[in-house]
Amino acid sequence: MLPFLREHWGNPSSAHDRGRRARAAIDDARDRLAAVLGCAPRELTFTSGGTEADNLAVRGALQRWGGERGRHVVVSAVEHEAVLGTAAALAARGEAEVTVVGCDAAGRVDPERVAAAVRDDTTLVSMMLANNEVGAVQDVADAARLVRLANPRTLVHTDAVQALGRLAVDPRALGVDLLSLSAHKCYGPKGCGVLYARWGTHLTAQMDGGGQERERRSGTENVAAIAGFAVAAELVEGEREDEATRLGALRDCLEAAVLERAAHVRVAARAAQRLPNMSALLVDDASAEALVAALDGAGVEVSGGSACASGAARPSHVLAAMGEDPGRTALLRLSMGRGTLATDVDDAIDHLVEAIDTATASAGKPPKRRALTAAGG
Ligand SMILES: Cc1ncc(COP(=O)(O)O)c(C=O)c1O
Repeated sequence: MLPFLREHWGNPSSAHDRGRRARAAIDDARDRLAAVLGCAPRELTFTSGGTEADNLAVRGALQRWGGERGRHVVVSAVEHEAVLGTAAALAARGEAEVTVVGCDAAGRVDPERVAAAVRDDTTLVSMMLANNEVGAVQDVADAARLVRLANPRTLVHTDAVQALGRLAVDPRALGVDLLSLSAHKCYGPKGCGVLYARWGTHLTAQMDGGGQERERRSGTENVAAIAGFAVAAELVEGEREDEATRLGALRDCLEAAVLERAAHVRVAARAAQRLPNMSALLVDDASAEALVAALDGAGVEVSGGSACASGAARPSHVLAAMGEDPGRTALLRLSMGRGTLATDVDDAIDHLVEAIDTATASAGKPPKRRALTAAGG
């Protein structure tokens, strides 16, 4: 990224040499990202992040096709707010009619239920590839196939923001028309994302102006971030299989130890296929905010539910959809990555057990009786 912040900081729309170098950097990044995703470079539109990519997919599809094909949208109940909130905002303005398809207790959305919700006037179905709060992976390929059978004109979007570097992300194999990604979920810079739109999928641009990104997203491109995103995606894809094995083993070890040593704790979405790098722990009658603060004090950085702008934990709509009581049950989201070592996990286990025991003891629940040996430590 540094050359595009220091020497080659020209505007990619400028015709002079510095501008052309910046343009070449974007072209190169688009080619590299397309190679990672197995798509054509012209199918990628750079955005300011996953939120904007989701907005462009949902609003862009509805505004372009709503009048012709219908205003009905199908979303799953476990979508990120960038999809759910956008659909709700369109519905509030009378621009969409939204059907929300629920999930089972493990956070899985049934592709058959998604397809059954599709009508003649359904313009868009949006179903995420992997959930950001509990890590449940959805069978998007099957849903896309069934949706096409139900209505061949319906566009299928998937928010794959959590999946890059953890699962194979191949829009053609998934059979989707639209797919959103965010750079900062794969060690790239914040404030950069991309929307894949299958060639021939027309959308209404959400930003008017200079007509950059093939008229799809006006505004001078964030050249350094785009260059960084492409390299980050290549690197994370290159190490994906090894890292999935390594982190999956650490995740299993963490969950086994916490379940053995702490009482009143469960693992969310355990019966589902899950992201290998993430564990979501459910603690009944405890406050996620208090647990997050206690763990932070011990140097263990975890999240309660999804991170929102205020930093405060909101009752999780994902837990509610799974049939939990988000007002009563705390969700602790533990994510691991490239820098996570086995010793970090051992350390986290000790602090987690202590924090969970303290939180549940204050609710009048006894901790688990522990053996005097360090077994399981
Ligand atoms: C599943 C999912 N979608 C969308 C987003 C939003 O992406 P961004 O932060 O790049 O706007 C996130 C971010 O956490 C996410 O987890």
